[in-house]
Amino acid sequence: MAVLNASTANEHQLPANGSPESLPAADASFAGSNQQVVLQDDCPTTPIEYDGIEVLAPMVRASTLPLRLECLRYGAGLVYGEEIVDKKFVNVVRVENPQFRTVDFVSQREKGIVFSTCKEERDRVIFQMGTADPVLASQAALLVCKDVRGVDVNMGCPKSFSVKGGMGAALLDTPDMASEILKSLRRSLPSSCSVTCKIRMRATTEKTREFMQLCERSGAEAIAVHMRQREERPADPAHWDEIMRVWDAVNVPVIANGDFFTRQQINQFWKHCKGDGDNCGVNGFCAGNGVNLSTSTATRKGPAAVMIARGALWNPSIFCRDREAPPFEEVVRSYTRAAVQANSSYQNTKWVLSQMLAGGTGVIVPTSFCDEPMKAFNRRLSTAKSMSAICEMIREPFDAAAFPEKAHTTSFYQSLELVKAGTPGDPTNENTLAERRPNETNLEDGPTASKRARLTQ
Ligand SMILES: Cc1cc2nc3c(=O)[nH]c(=O)nc-3n(C[C@H](O)[C@H](O)[C@H](O)COP(=O)(O)O)c2cc1C
Repeated sequence: MAVLNASTANEHQLPANGSPESLPAADASFAGSNQQVVLQDDCPTTPIEYDGIEVLAPMVRASTLPLRLECLRYGAGLVYGEEIVDKKFVNVVRVENPQFRTVDFVSQREKGIVFSTCKEERDRVIFQMGTADPVLASQAALLVCKDVRGVDVNMGCPKSFSVKGGMGAALLDTPDMASEILKSLRRSLPSSCSVTCKIRMRATTEKTREFMQLCERSGAEAIAVHMRQREERPADPAHWDEIMRVWDAVNVPVIANGDFFTRQQINQFWKHCKGDGDNCGVNGFCAGNGVNLSTSTATRKGPAAVMIARGALWNPSIFCRDREAPPFEEVVRSYTRAAVQANSSYQNTKWVLSQMLAGGTGVIVPTSFCDEPMKAFNRRLSTAKSMSAICEMIREPFDAAAFPEKAHTTSFYQSLELVKAGTPGDPTNENTLAERRPNETNLEDGPTASKRARLTQ
């Protein structure tokens, strides 16, 4: 295990499989900070392979650990977590939970789990962040980068809380800020952690292409493009035709997102990308409109990967490509088992299940579930007050005695003292449930004004 101490850029040791050149210089703006990164010996050293993969999209409330694990098991190549705002994340404490084999990032104030991950997804999970501040973004990313494959910046969320704070889709109109954030992340994070962004289309093809080029120049290693403009709602059709006019603006892989609800639609999209489908078929999709083919994109005929949001929430087995998807009831049960094993809260589990059982565009769900009409089942599910009650309804065994007190509730960490332990450079600088140390060093509340000033100069 090697230690990269962000406070002393020149003193860091290398990971066993790294080289001095492969590590980026630590951001000078962190001088004096006590944040540190403990790099695991098994950090991946090869770039992410995007060609042909299908990716779970970031979705607030939905893209939590159990759904991510299920999507990976069905065949997703990468999974994005829900957006977490940097301001919130800089106040978390990292806790290794041996009972559930998870790594939990827990807010010090509310004592709630902000982000939870585990070894199974380590090399394929992307942490998505909402940010409008290069320094805060990097501080937050440094806390999680040893536990994830990459960090993504949300540049597409049109919700007012995001945009008012300069985050999400607001970054499409503040390209300098978008660029500073990506550059800061790339400078601060080890090369084993990829830096990417997810954008929406801009008003014209040219503007989208320019923005993508700016992201690439600023260090984005892949760009997910939600094929809608900022003002467009989820019910408006995604512009599959437009992605074919923008995907080749950059050399880095482009991930196409929007309206992949069924396996058939995804397969049709891939066919179009290979240039052997009917032009202008599904969704007005036209293949082969690209211009300026660059060397690395020369062999591609469209985006490298596709990203699925609602289609995967309604049925995560959408990722089954070369095998038959299991029956819907089994998909629901398997998700519930994953939620139990991951210590998901019953509230979150119930919400995800209610979305799955409702289905959506093109995803037809059975009219009954566990021998009960679906509507009645859903109504009963909405009243469940524990994971045990949910499991009973789904007919999954649940042994409450096998789990610690408050497991599967949002108050799991409420009664625990959570402190940032250890000193800079100490590779054991983390909490475990088995061993909690007294309050030695509190996490910084945020960047000081002088740090911020140095970065933006
Ligand atoms: C419930 C829900 C939550 C979402 N949360 C996020 C998010 O946290 N970050 C983000 O970049 N996009 C978020 N999105 C947008 C999706 O990632 C995606 O871009 C959009 O739904 C279009 O994909 P789809 O047509 O496959 O649903 C969310 C979408 C949904 C439905």
